[in-house]
Amino acid sequence: MPEADSGDAKNFQTDVPPPADGFFLKGSGSLDWGMSNRLSRIFRPETGRTVMLAIDHGYFQGPTTGLERVDISILPLVPLADALMCTRGILRSVVPPSMRTPVVMRASGGPSILKELSDEQIAIDIEDAARLNVAALAVQVFIGGEHETQSIHNLTRLVDMGLRYGIPVMGVTAVGKQLTRDAKYLRLACRIIAELGAQFVKTYYCDEGFDTVTASCPVPVVMAGGKKLPELDALTMASRAVTEGAAGVDMGRNIFQSDNTEGMMRAVTAVVHERKSPQEALEIYRSHRAAPVGHSSTR
Ligand code: 5RP
Repeated sequence: MPEADSGDAKNFQTDVPPPADGFFLKGSGSLDWGMSNRLSRIFRPETGRTVMLAIDHGYFQGPTTGLERVDISILPLVPLADALMCTRGILRSVVPPSMRTPVVMRASGGPSILKELSDEQIAIDIEDAARLNVAALAVQVFIGGEHETQSIHNLTRLVDMGLRYGIPVMGVTAVGKQLTRDAKYLRLACRIIAELGAQFVKTYYCDEGFDTVTASCPVPVVMAGGKKLPELDALTMASRAVTEGAAGVDMGRNIFQSDNTEGMMRAVTAVVHERKSPQEALEIYRSHRAAPVGHSSTR
């Protein structure tokens, strides 16, 4: 017999208004639940920021320095990252599915470093992305590049597919050899990517006016690391980017080419989430120097 449903015993708490809070990421208040949930896996709701570990470089560079053996050099770092940016090939072949770190999947590709890099196409089917349970897709956009329109088309098609499946898209401002990385260019590129529907944007840091890049982009911006710098310089760049409005970082070479990768992961995390100063973070980097390669860590 079902229990009697007595209206008198229920408590509807009519005096407590339901929560009407907006979503914690800028420009993201009108997204569907699945997409918001995926973004909440990448960006920590308590800080609104992320530390993504980018190891997708092999999709056009092959086994670049630091990524020769992803199983040895990268897997121990994965639990320390808020998200792992990688290709589906590396994911399936090297990364164990028991990993709990969300994946931001490289979704464009085509030319190698031997060719014109802007000649990319979409390189994954959305159903495979869903099968792989990815938290977001990443696509390169070459504003001012030879194949600018094609790369924009890759972005817009991916956004349409992502919207159907609740998978956010991160547009990446690709800077070709001829293009400068000043605020004027990055403002243009980031804004176009956001206007055309990307849910978040990845871009490089610039010394002058980065705050105008983040301010004029209506969705979260994460900072790419770029070429390897001395650790203190990389930590300073990450710190300045966050102070100037970045919602975190998506760093590759400055982590996996460091002589102390675990220390660097922890130091970047301290800068981004705990707002430690670059000097304090450098101490964290130094204090984890002893970790041997292959040592497994906990978050
Ligand atoms: C490749 C990418 C990389 O993921 C991105 O450049 C981040 O890596 P790094 O910090 O080494 O620049 O998008 O095009």
